[in-house]
Amino acid sequence: MLKSQLQQKLRELKDNNLYRFLRKNNMRNNNEDNKNYLDFSSNDYLCLSINKEITDAIKERGLKYGFGSTGSRLTSGDINHQLLEHKIAEFKGTERSLIYSSGYATNVGVISALCKKGDLILSDKLNHASIIDGCKLSKSDVLIYNHCDTDNLIDLIEKNRNNYNNLFIITDGVFSMDGDIAPLDKLKKIADEYNGILIIDDAHGTGVLGNGRGTLKHFNLKPSDNIIQIGTLSKAVGGLGGFVCGIEEVIEYLINTSRSFIYSTSLPPSVVSGCIKSFEIIEKGAPTKKLQKNIELANKIFKEHDLIEEDNLTPIYPFIFGDKTMDIAERLIKNNIFCVGIRYPTVPKGLERLRVSINIGHSEGDFRALCESIKKFK
Ligand SMILES: Cc1ncc(COP(=O)(O)O)c(C=O)c1O
Repeated sequence: MLKSQLQQKLRELKDNNLYRFLRKNNMRNNNEDNKNYLDFSSNDYLCLSINKEITDAIKERGLKYGFGSTGSRLTSGDINHQLLEHKIAEFKGTERSLIYSSGYATNVGVISALCKKGDLILSDKLNHASIIDGCKLSKSDVLIYNHCDTDNLIDLIEKNRNNYNNLFIITDGVFSMDGDIAPLDKLKKIADEYNGILIIDDAHGTGVLGNGRGTLKHFNLKPSDNIIQIGTLSKAVGGLGGFVCGIEEVIEYLINTSRSFIYSTSLPPSVVSGCIKSFEIIEKGAPTKKLQKNIELANKIFKEHDLIEEDNLTPIYPFIFGDKTMDIAERLIKNNIFCVGIRYPTVPKGLERLRVSINIGHSEGDFRALCESIKKFK
């Protein structure tokens, strides 16, 4: 019964060109088919996933601490994890930080623990799926405001604030599918004015904006009691895991109540060591500067090819080709350019896009090769 239902659903996905399947990333298989791949799909903006200092740290610490962490942090699994938390708190300038096993687990665990029945969440329309899922798991009422539209946000707050206890405004710092930046300066003012708490998911801002310190720093805003910063260790940091930064009481409360933190095995200690080394590299500033230079170069070349109109400040470029997108992506892959097509339900129908993400390893020739191929296939 279930089998035939699922077969039917899968057929429908195929018929609607929405079927997802797994594809090996040949870049990481040492080009085993001897092709020269260009990868514009990874979130490894600073190329730290393959940095030798980091892989050496992982090797060394792996020998010292072993393979797995063996349990939740609250049971057997607290090994070198607090070292990384001190590092992240120092890096972000906050009182404390807490790490989770992924960015997804962080959003789900933080939002569901802090946002209670009787509270109101205002969430940007283009927030990441893990924020949406965290909101669903919370017992709060949730209202969606139009993307980066602070007038719409204020309107919703004015109409509803008095009916609720706590007010949470939740936004991506850098939006994962569009690469644009949330107006954190305005959002912070609104949070202050209406006695609200601002939660920022800076998955794509950390290592990228504000000298690498993130989107808050990009706006020259200082951490404060009503700001909670979330991030991932899997994008510019190059590893795996997630983190939340904030005041002492928030972190202590999460340790005591956040289910994806409490009831899940902690990160392997070698990964933790790799992330510590990664932050040591990022805080020196050089990789982020290099990324910003490459973004300037990409802006120039993408503009020459009419792929963008305005300069980007982040490494994420949405090239919107609507229903032609998946076909173009497939042709690019056949021509050894790995650049994923993003479609519904991740983005709205009609706004399907190639999500091009650039990193410090790309050269001018790589950008030109991408543009020339897109021109040929679109
Ligand atoms: C904005 C945003 N938040 C959270 C996540 C989840 O992070 P992770 O991949 O570490 O689970 C992602 C990654 O896809 C993201 O883009």
